[in-house]
Amino acid sequence: MCGIVGYIGPQNATPIIMNGLKKLEYRGYDSAGIAVLENDKIEIRRDAGKLERLSQLVQESPVTGNIGIGHTRWATHGEPNTRNAHPHLGMTGDVVVVHNGIVENFSILRDELESEGVVFQSETDSEVIVHLIERYLSGGGNITTAVQKALLHLKGAHGIVVMSRIEPDKIIAARIGNAGGVVIGQGKDEMYIASDLPAILEHTREMIFLESRQMAVVNREGVEVLTLEGKGIQPEVHNIPWDPVSAEKGEYRHFMHKEIHEQVRSLTETIAGRVDYELGSIQLPSLNVSPAMVKEISKIFIIACGTASYAGMVGKVLIERIARIPVEVEIGSEFRYQDPIVDEKMVVLAISQSGETADTLAAMEEGRRKGATLWSIVNAIGSQAMRIADGYISMQVGPEIGVASTKAYTAPLVDLYMLAILLGELRGTIDENQRRQLVDDLRLVPDLAGRCLDKENEVKLVADNLLEVQNALYLGRGINMPTAYEGALKLKEISYIHAEGYPAGEMKHGPIALIDSGLPVVVIAPRDPWYEKMINQIEQAKTRGGRVIAVATEGDQQILSQADHVLNVPDTPWMLSPVTTVIPLQLLAYHIAAQRGLDVDQPRNLAKSVTVE
Ligand code: AGP
Repeated sequence: MCGIVGYIGPQNATPIIMNGLKKLEYRGYDSAGIAVLENDKIEIRRDAGKLERLSQLVQESPVTGNIGIGHTRWATHGEPNTRNAHPHLGMTGDVVVVHNGIVENFSILRDELESEGVVFQSETDSEVIVHLIERYLSGGGNITTAVQKALLHLKGAHGIVVMSRIEPDKIIAARIGNAGGVVIGQGKDEMYIASDLPAILEHTREMIFLESRQMAVVNREGVEVLTLEGKGIQPEVHNIPWDPVSAEKGEYRHFMHKEIHEQVRSLTETIAGRVDYELGSIQLPSLNVSPAMVKEISKIFIIACGTASYAGMVGKVLIERIARIPVEVEIGSEFRYQDPIVDEKMVVLAISQSGETADTLAAMEEGRRKGATLWSIVNAIGSQAMRIADGYISMQVGPEIGVASTKAYTAPLVDLYMLAILLGELRGTIDENQRRQLVDDLRLVPDLAGRCLDKENEVKLVADNLLEVQNALYLGRGINMPTAYEGALKLKEISYIHAEGYPAGEMKHGPIALIDSGLPVVVIAPRDPWYEKMINQIEQAKTRGGRVIAVATEGDQQILSQADHVLNVPDTPWMLSPVTTVIPLQLLAYHIAAQRGLDVDQPRNLAKSVTVE
């Protein structure tokens, strides 16, 4: 999940690369470094810690040049220290490399290279790459063929960018597998390279996305794309609509807070262009489905990780209830190793904000291998999960920078709701009146979300009472059981409090033993078909001394009399209730973590896009 930026052109590369790395810091931040070609010498500045450490270093010891590469690291092999920070320089001083991914066979390669006299400077797996390139350069090859030959030795998934002093008019970039993207941005007499769009979006919207086992030879005038075997490719140039401003924090202290409050707009945007309220119908043209194909579907596997998998659990309820298609939700890291029973009448639907999550991509490939149709619901335009799918639904919520996913959780809930309606219509499992009602309810969503956000002060007061807690339980049922998992994940990943999401009905089978006096128990109890059961849940938790924080439909006097704290949500059609019930839980986690002075946007040990397995 490292961040990579490269530049070649008439400007000074240093500020462009540093500014780009800043926009990628959420991808990983154990160390950072930059290499720039200055007066025919590769100058390197690198340090452990966050990007501001490197910024200070560059200020104290400036480096100027028109070609350079930079890197922010999320450590996999080797301590996050200066020696292990990228870029890595070869022994000749002629070649420098930055790398995203894991060289799975690096110890064999390291032994081989050491036997050839190579002296390693770090404990990283990445360093083997620069020495392999030098091995093939020493034989008199050019940098392009040397990189091609070197990469053929690597096992695992990689994003790699190489710069050389002996051929200073080009940068080489390559992608193998799903280790995070390699994007080439086309400017006027200048070119940009990045592992993710936000790094270079302010400079250009014309982007080329490398596929697996492709490499790019980038010079000032343009780019030549080849396979690793050297075959020329005509790449597709994507024009990206995202505006750079939306990727900035604005008046918010944290990206996460901004993105929580963006949900009125993001929900509007994920619905936009897909609903005909007059006809009461849904259009999802990028899914590329036909009525005949939809009628044939025997099962849908929803594959995702983390927050995205909880959205998938909501999707299961919606698709089974509306379209009557069996749905199985599997996390990517399990599905890929299960030898799952999949055939050509089945669909594998991946949900992924980044579209680059290695476990999810690998699960998609497993589904493809077994003949399934691949769909994806993705936010990052041009990402792998979007490009390899037979059809996709773009979340259309703009860049999500905060590591903790918020708007990219509520958007797929609505995308899955629209998908369920489309499938139900094509399979005839809902009549016109039912369809019109379901479609009409979509109109309410942005306003309902806005009304949840209007209650932020209520949520903050509850957060102020929970700043010292060490444990918490989140309980939900039915369509809001996943809300319990998601609410708990939000709290644990940014406040480091141990929070557990649990099916409320399961409590009596063991976990209720956890409830003692003062344990915070968040109970999600809106007016949905499981409401009455949840009232009992509140009673059970109170009887055992738990401190109940109830998410309830505003005006619910019964819960008001029972619970210690109430987080009110507006009355919402139950199939859309996970959109509203999660918002106070996002805000609750945010305010607890912010009040505890924690790094909300870049929580410890985490990265925004998990491109390693
Ligand atoms: C959510 O807050 C976390 N950042 C994490 O669970 C995330 O949802 C998961 O890694 C999947 O990421 P993706 O949606 O980009 O595939």
